[in-house]
Amino acid sequence: MFKIKYPCMRNCSQKFIITIVLIILLVSIYVYVFKSEKVSERKTCAPSSEKTSTYNKFTNSRLVWPDELPNGDRIKEQLYYVPAGYKYEMSRIKRILIHTGIGDVWEIPLLDQGEFIGCPVSQCWLTVNLSYGPEVDAVIFRHHYTRPTFNRPPNQIWIMHHTEAPYSTSFMTDSNVFNWTSNYRWDSDIPNPYGYFFEYKPPLPRIERNYADGKSKKVAWFVSNCYPNSNRTIYANELANYISVDIYGNCGVLKCPRDNDNSCLKLLDTDYKFYLAFENAHCRHYITEKLFLNALSHDVLPIVMGPSRSDYELVAPKNSFIHVDDFESPKLLAEYLNKLDEDDELYNEYFQWKGTGTVTIGSKYYCRLCAMLHDEKRLPKHYEDINKWWDGPGVCRPPILDPNLFSVNTHTDPPTNKNQK
Ligand SMILES: *[C@@H]1O[C@H](CO)[C@@H](O)[C@H](O)[C@H]1NC(C)=O
Ligand SMILES: *[C@@H]1O[C@H](CO)[C@@H](O)[C@H](O)[C@H]1NC(C)=O
Ligand SMILES: *[C@@H]1O[C@H](CO)[C@@H](O)[C@H](O)[C@H]1NC(C)=O
Repeated sequence: MFKIKYPCMRNCSQKFIITIVLIILLVSIYVYVFKSEKVSERKTCAPSSEKTSTYNKFTNSRLVWPDELPNGDRIKEQLYYVPAGYKYEMSRIKRILIHTGIGDVWEIPLLDQGEFIGCPVSQCWLTVNLSYGPEVDAVIFRHHYTRPTFNRPPNQIWIMHHTEAPYSTSFMTDSNVFNWTSNYRWDSDIPNPYGYFFEYKPPLPRIERNYADGKSKKVAWFVSNCYPNSNRTIYANELANYISVDIYGNCGVLKCPRDNDNSCLKLLDTDYKFYLAFENAHCRHYITEKLFLNALSHDVLPIVMGPSRSDYELVAPKNSFIHVDDFESPKLLAEYLNKLDEDDELYNEYFQWKGTGTVTIGSKYYCRLCAMLHDEKRLPKHYEDINKWWDGPGVCRPPILDPNLFSVNTHTDPPTNKNQK
């Protein structure tokens, strides 16, 4: 529409071209100088891998092994661990074979690279094909061990992996072949707990609320496997003499709708004040989804039975549970629960932790395994006697119960169940 009037038409095109050429020249000089500066910077920095790892705030250059911290949380350290010298996509892929125990439906891992996508250290590959045995960097024996038929290369890491407590696992026929352990225990090399409490740092602002609001019922217990004479059943029945206990599942009269497990768990948020998170084994650190998923992930106060209080303190948020060991008898526990039932302020003390972190079910086991396999500087390690470590004296204990309880006539005999654990 508008015509631009140039002062000159002939001379100008010449001047214009000269200006353009000059600009291009200047830009290319600048780019050249800037680029070579970057290259020299990289050249001087590259050998110092420590510098690069401190530069990245999301990584950790220190890995903590169980002997350094046998009773502490090493999961975050492992999760953020990126070995000095790890070259991301330039690093050789570490291969891992699951030799036994694949097929437990509730815990089938993603094969190939599936479990490692998104991990800080992700150059790993997982297979169940036994023909890779002689080549892989690590072999996982899940739940049980059978001696492999292939020849073990000198640097191959053998891992004993368990999810159940020692009562339900088999004896290892070769006791000195394992380099690492991985199971729910905090002193295993790659701890794989049933749940994990991720604390918020820094904390989020707290939302005040009354967790007793609208709850009309007292104690709930969900149990599928029961011996009528097991310690936990006797304990729960004795408790029921002094406070109302609703038993859902095979051990009781109440049923959860079969098609929807969650509807029962939702009752814990809305109807019940207390939940019996009773383990069927009393072994070191053996704390299952009964605590993490059923109780802590809902708005209910767990009453725990299993390993000692100190084991629970290791994994559960501060002041988030009541331990049966703290009471001389089920009667005294019931008295305390009735007191909490009357006193909302006291009851809410046990929910102060809500909002200080998240309870998760997974703790990125395969990410951590991958990072540890990429640690080229780690020292060799193996267990002299895996059976002693796993199931030796002091690992499991009989439940602490008043012997008088066993002469007490329990008021109901729950129906027996064939699939008892
Ligand atoms: C296992 O791996 C070998 C060698 O790569 C291959 O020949 C074989 O077909 C694989 N077996 C299965 C069941 O995938
Ligand atoms: C139950 O408790 C009694 C008394 O403490 C103990 O002797 C027994 O071994 C326990 N039973 C189980 C299965 O733990
Ligand atoms: C793994 O354990 C074996 C013993 O079964 C041992 O000879 C080997 O040195 C260990 N390797 C590493 C890398 O720790």
